[in-house]
Amino acid sequence: MIGRRHPGVAVLLAGVLLVVPGLDRRTTVTAATPAATDPASARRVTLGSSVVGFGHLLGSGRAQPFVTDPAYRQLLLDHFDGLTPENQLKWEVVHPVQDRYDFGPADAIVAFAEEHGMPVRGHALLWHNQNPAWLVADRYTDDELRDILRDHVTTVVGRYAGRIGQWDVANEILDDAGNARSENPFIARLGMGIVADAFRWAHAADPDATLFLNDYNVEAIGPKSDAYLALARDLLAEGVPVGGFGVQGHLALQYPFPSTLEANLQRFADLGLELAITELDVRMRLAGDPTDTQLTAQADIYRRVAEACLAVDACTSITLWGSPDAYSWVPGFFAGEGAATPFDADGTPKPAWDALQEALGRIE
Ligand code: XIL
Repeated sequence: MIGRRHPGVAVLLAGVLLVVPGLDRRTTVTAATPAATDPASARRVTLGSSVVGFGHLLGSGRAQPFVTDPAYRQLLLDHFDGLTPENQLKWEVVHPVQDRYDFGPADAIVAFAEEHGMPVRGHALLWHNQNPAWLVADRYTDDELRDILRDHVTTVVGRYAGRIGQWDVANEILDDAGNARSENPFIARLGMGIVADAFRWAHAADPDATLFLNDYNVEAIGPKSDAYLALARDLLAEGVPVGGFGVQGHLALQYPFPSTLEANLQRFADLGLELAITELDVRMRLAGDPTDTQLTAQADIYRRVAEACLAVDACTSITLWGSPDAYSWVPGFFAGEGAATPFDADGTPKPAWDALQEALGRIE
């Protein structure tokens, strides 16, 4: 059985029995098995899933599987080490009106995770999407908007201090050319300085949490990841408590694999940052069920992402964005595409799951 209770990835120690000449006793020496020759000795990388449903306001009418579907909760427990609320910590859910926070949906997930010893990633504090109407109504002065953000970051991070170990503080704040994203309501009004403020407020609220920049289309070396590298370097030089860089990993069969992924992760690691693959999925164009060729190609992509993360010491986690396929966000957002997760609609593992497990050295 594959699962977090049977990880099988601890570094194996090969016991070598030596008879030392001249001494009337035997000495046992242990030596680490070289990682390169033994996949079972692979470094442990946390494998997480986002948690769908319950608080999902956009695309209403969808099921709330975390609450209603025990098989879904069991899938999370059977296969994953960690969890990320997919929508429940976004502003529209957690802060639906200005003077009221609704922590119910996120609390349920955090409590479930704690009960089962699973670390939680927090997502997301400063983003241009899924903001409530009251926030984006443009009725506040600059100072008021800044106070609103400070209150939000302080309250949300503070509530889970010591319980949520990583936060996506700034999500998708640059566009594909690497410029500040003008749709972000805070950046548009207050400039990029607000990003540094958000990190500082989050750090004050939980000094032990690792605070991430997070985005899509930053898997490969290119203008957007270059801009993040420069931003991270500048923020660190100013003493801003940035601790990690999150690469979302929304990939697709019809686009080339980001073959510079490992080198890209490494250059952020070289700044001293932790790396995470935060929202991995691999979608495909569908005309009916996926073909064997598609499933094989998908498996290859999941495997290559896991290998790239494993190859960089500072890459500590891979989070899959929704599982199984029945609960993936992809069909609702990419017309004609789907089958993006490693589990088919009824939760049966696909070739992608086996490939991921093999790459992570978890198959027993
Ligand atoms: C998506 C969720 O999966 C959907 O349920 C929701 O309706 C929209 O947002 N980048 C992110 C995630 O940072 O928060 C997004 O999640 C997917 C893209």
